[in-house]
Amino acid sequence: MKLSVPKERRRDERRVAASPDTAKKLVGLGFEVVVETGAGVESGFLDAAYEEAGAAIAAAGAATLSDGDVVLKVQRPLIGGEEGDDELALMKPGAVLIGALAGLQHADHAAAYARAGLTTFSLELLPRITRAQSMDILSSQSNIAGYKAVLDGAGAFGRAMPMMMTAAGTIPPARVLVLGAGVAGLQAIATARRLGAIVTGYDVRPAVKEQVESLGAKFLAVDQDAAADAETAGGYAREMGASYREREAEVLRAALERSDIVVCTALIPGRTAPVLIAADMVRAMRPGSVIVDLAVEQGGNCELSEPGAVAVRHGVTIVGHANMPSRLAENASSMYARNLLNFLTPLVDREDGTLAIDRDDEIVAACLITRDGAVVHPSLTARPADKDVA
Ligand code: NAI
Repeated sequence: MKLSVPKERRRDERRVAASPDTAKKLVGLGFEVVVETGAGVESGFLDAAYEEAGAAIAAAGAATLSDGDVVLKVQRPLIGGEEGDDELALMKPGAVLIGALAGLQHADHAAAYARAGLTTFSLELLPRITRAQSMDILSSQSNIAGYKAVLDGAGAFGRAMPMMMTAAGTIPPARVLVLGAGVAGLQAIATARRLGAIVTGYDVRPAVKEQVESLGAKFLAVDQDAAADAETAGGYAREMGASYREREAEVLRAALERSDIVVCTALIPGRTAPVLIAADMVRAMRPGSVIVDLAVEQGGNCELSEPGAVAVRHGVTIVGHANMPSRLAENASSMYARNLLNFLTPLVDREDGTLAIDRDDEIVAACLITRDGAVVHPSLTARPADKDVA
């Protein structure tokens, strides 16, 4: 089987879906690995490293994609009508496409994959079960994003992070507030602590309090009783009611006035991100403070953040970089590539050199978007009437 690794073509994307390390393992699994020339350059992986790993280097476009039985991608392919080459048109019918395809958000693309005869896996839909942990692209990339957000915040901040006591005077430690303490938030807390800041973490899920405190940060409590049912069975946050949000705004406003750097990571799956920092709350912050909004691509936790931009509003620098994991591309790519390898390995039937896709498997079922020319993911196929019955 041929496995293709094209260069990513979407804006702000520096990552690549296979590293020389995983390319070697894919060759070991029996794949003939073809990497588009320059695909790994922005992640620090040169063509020669892939060749050393046993992969072939191909020219851009059809030479990489047209006979790939399996195509590994970071972002969903460009399709006709979008700026740039139509990547989908280059893939062969029957190919298996694996990536962070955001299949449920882009139903039109899912339909196009089906028409192109592809079998597609959208890996951000992986269930968060123990068996899938090593494949969990959301966790691996959020971890990188949380770390990098703190570094970006520290870079934009005009003062030092740790306390420094010198003969020339004492520099106070920076105060960092992290909103949302999931994977990215906890890494942001740990990173800010390592840099010597005084850190406070906040989340609607009270279960997180202990994790925040175990990292040496304070937990900001809003209303423990009202937050008692803030967590879904899947471990995610729910959207909170109006009275909780009012109380939350009051507590956050006071905390923001005391903070130097705020890292926003709060998300609710399938929804726009909750707005936790309204425009007037930014105005009340100290000039020179920094907000890094990791939720910016889902609408932002800060009302004033702009996707892809760094803006100064009311004296506060608001960092809205898109695609934060891509800003640490080598580590992000290595981990992402490893996630894909771990997902693909159990699907390979090594005896007859094919992929054995078991639709009854919980992991496969959760992220299989299209198969045999049809859209098959239940969230995309369910008609409103079906939903009503359910
Ligand atoms: P996420 O990216 O969906 O959200 C980030 C954080 O924002 C969450 O902690 C959420 O509670 C918080 N949040 C949402 N609305 C908020 C608000 N209004 N104010 C403050 N915070 C708010 O979450 P992520 O990082 O993907 O993790 C979600 C859960 O999944 C966590 O419990 C995590 O431990 C769990 N998990 C489980 C894994 C497994 O394999 N078992 C792997 C990774 C995560």
